[in-house]
Amino acid sequence: MFKIEEISLVQFRNYAQAGFTFSNSVTGICGKNGSGKTNLLDAVYYLCFTKSYFGKTDLQNTQLEKSGFRLEGKMALLNQQYQITCVLRENGKKEFGVNHENYSRFATHIGKFPCVMIAPDDVAIITQGSEERRKFMDYTISQMDADYLQNLIDYNKILQQRNSLLKQLADTGSIDKQLMDIISDQLVGVGQLLFSRRSKFLDDFIPVVSRLYHSIAQNDENLTITYQSHLKSIHFKELLLKNKAKDIALQRTTQGIHRDDLEFGLDGFPFKNIASQGQRKCLLFALKLAEFEVLSTHKGFPPILLLDDIFEKLDESRMKNLLAKVCVENQGQVLISDTHYHRLKEALDELGVSHDIIVL
Ligand SMILES: Nc1ncnc2c1ncn2[C@@H]1O[C@H](COP(=O)(O)OP(=O)(O)O)[C@@H](O)[C@H]1O
Ligand SMILES: [Mg+2]
Repeated sequence: MFKIEEISLVQFRNYAQAGFTFSNSVTGICGKNGSGKTNLLDAVYYLCFTKSYFGKTDLQNTQLEKSGFRLEGKMALLNQQYQITCVLRENGKKEFGVNHENYSRFATHIGKFPCVMIAPDDVAIITQGSEERRKFMDYTISQMDADYLQNLIDYNKILQQRNSLLKQLADTGSIDKQLMDIISDQLVGVGQLLFSRRSKFLDDFIPVVSRLYHSIAQNDENLTITYQSHLKSIHFKELLLKNKAKDIALQRTTQGIHRDDLEFGLDGFPFKNIASQGQRKCLLFALKLAEFEVLSTHKGFPPILLLDDIFEKLDESRMKNLLAKVCVENQGQVLISDTHYHRLKEALDELGVSHDIIVL
């Protein structure tokens, strides 16, 4: 099993110095707006991912008017103890390590301590542009497959190199053609790998999302989820050849797996155009809990689940159904934040799970 037992925060956002212990598998975190609930959950996320869930920079993570911060977590994973430490030095240098051994590459850490966050703005995955959905897919697969993450990092680097060459061609009228061919071939190689990994992942993932959606929404609407990729119909090498003139004119690689998307439909229409706010929330939970489920299956133990302000998202009966799913049926650790102590206390008491509530 995987649990965070303790966390300490120094100069991390609103926390000058604080420590928390999580002794039960379910912990409620209560406090009024601005009291630091989200910051505490994000600190736990940070220790699992080496960065903030909300895309905050380390400068933003540091307490105002201070320089540097420190986060430390005591984790228990499959009967072993781990101490995860992140130190941002005053000179801006960041060190991240487990049991006093610092990583030379932070990416190595991803997936070892799996974690899923559900936060209020996550509905962007459904309503915003394709980048949000790619990020969601990539973070999920990366936690299961370290090679995928490395390939993704490589792909983005090669893509940048190719785009700079295209820009250089526009600026100067000439480029090293041989170099362009080498870079394009590299992009094709890594791109095809990422495409097959995403396809394989989605074959397993999509049916889980559909099942969870129907169970959370408690209806049998016709939800469709389709993987959109240029590479579904053409090999990447041919695609680059086909787009050569366009890529040169626009000075960037116009098509490829960096434009992949997940398309959601409801009764044959685009989901984001016709779904109600309630339906969007149901789909969001279905996506996140599907991530949770596939990670659990893959790892053999459940990830830590961080639920930020979750009560604001669903009506009461759906909420209770969902809490039962995540707090009772699952054997993992759940941290839930809420502004209302009594609402949270009542919901957790009703579930009959042993829990603590931290009041900030
Ligand atoms: N870098 C920072 N330094 C000091 N305070 C910060 C920093 N970043 C955020 N805060 C403060 O943290 C508080 C927000 O915390 P948050 O965890 O979002 O609260 P909650 O989720 O309980 O509403 C705000 O009062 C904000 O001013
Ligand atoms: Mg908050």
